[in-house]
Amino acid sequence: MTTREERQKAIIHAGYNTFLLRSRDVYVDLLTDSGTSAMSDRQWSGMMLGDESYAGSENFYHLEAAIQKYYGYRYIVPTHQGRGAENIISKIMIKPGDIVPGNMYFTTTRLHQELAGGTFVDIIIDEAHDSQSEHPFKGNVNLEKLESLIKVYGAKKIPYISLATSVNMAGGQPISLENIRGLRKLTHQYGIKIIHDMTRVAENAYFIKMRETGYRNKSIRSIVKEICSLTDGATMSAKKDALVNIGGFLALNDKSLYEEASNLVVIYEGLHTYGGLAGRDMEAMAIGITESVDDNHIRARVGQVEYLGNKLLDAKIPIVKPIGGHGIFLDAKKFVPHLKQIQFPAQSLAAEIYLDSGVRTMERGIVSAGRNKDTDDHYYPELELVRLTIPRRVYTQAHMDVVAESVQEVFTNRKKIKGLKMVYEPKYLRFFQARFQKIK
Ligand SMILES: Cc1ncc(COP(=O)(O)O)c(C=O)c1O
Repeated sequence: MTTREERQKAIIHAGYNTFLLRSRDVYVDLLTDSGTSAMSDRQWSGMMLGDESYAGSENFYHLEAAIQKYYGYRYIVPTHQGRGAENIISKIMIKPGDIVPGNMYFTTTRLHQELAGGTFVDIIIDEAHDSQSEHPFKGNVNLEKLESLIKVYGAKKIPYISLATSVNMAGGQPISLENIRGLRKLTHQYGIKIIHDMTRVAENAYFIKMRETGYRNKSIRSIVKEICSLTDGATMSAKKDALVNIGGFLALNDKSLYEEASNLVVIYEGLHTYGGLAGRDMEAMAIGITESVDDNHIRARVGQVEYLGNKLLDAKIPIVKPIGGHGIFLDAKKFVPHLKQIQFPAQSLAAEIYLDSGVRTMERGIVSAGRNKDTDDHYYPELELVRLTIPRRVYTQAHMDVVAESVQEVFTNRKKIKGLKMVYEPKYLRFFQARFQKIK
């Protein structure tokens, strides 16, 4: 616990950016669910079985077997985390001038696509950009939008569809299996691959089980496998669903793409049987994958997110609906309507919540969206959100109560919240390191 005075100093020192706070100054840390989950006793036991040989570690083969068994992909290249895999797949598949359609951008994913010379084009359904739409599958692809894009640019200019399950930037919103099947049919027609960002695939599977006709009696495990079977490869940040503090991988079904990937990984990550990870990390990941597809685990995980979300909804706080899989997203445009988007409302709101209670959240709006690579203008995304991201197996419902109380307190005093101006803007992924000052 810290005092308000201490927090005031800390947030000014951090340039009103919650990424720049020291964790010791944070009480409940909802910055991210990435690498912040608690490993189980089994995973910790696995850490003791690390085979730290440079090449051909036993743990690599356990990881490979877990990925093949639970996800069904044929070939795998471990990477230090998700963006390592994004770098490799973008370098292999994207040529300058290419178009990469996807169901809403993700920060690191789009940056790697752009650095490889591609342009990301959003093909998610319109409902995803509306925080109040209660569409059960706001992660769905608009297949008509995709088909017109293919007609305009030609299939040769589209190396793959960048398809996320549990769309992070939309509020952790799922895609339906019906939609993925439709996408598979369309892409087969044009010979286009689907690369799956499977970072939170198990959470997506839970929503399919609960909301899609015909899946209520299916296991999370079988739904996850079915999703993966409709795609050609995947990038994974195992720091989320797969319950590890560090790790990721690139999975592919095509042997020649795999051969290119296993060659490139040597430059950026490490040999193709460790990809920047210790043997013990790969063991923990193999066990985490198994635990992540357990029906009881995923129900408890998403249930805790729903618990917090329902508390906020009861208090009439504007959040993204329906409640997503990995966090609650406050709608800053509705929370602080007196601030213009260029005054960074979500950034300011995240700082205010920290100031109130030491609860750390993060911005997912104009700062995260960055600038258009051709015009250099800010993107002005429809969604201006503060993300309260829940780590897995870490907090109790009592912590969620503290969080809900603090958000309500800030909501009561919302009219006093001032905007920010950006005083330092790094070139890449600015939300991590940008600094701000309060507008007087
Ligand atoms: C949807 C999604 N894709 C990719 C990534 C990148 O993964 P990592 O942070 O492990 O590099 C993340 C996490 O930040 C994510 O949430």
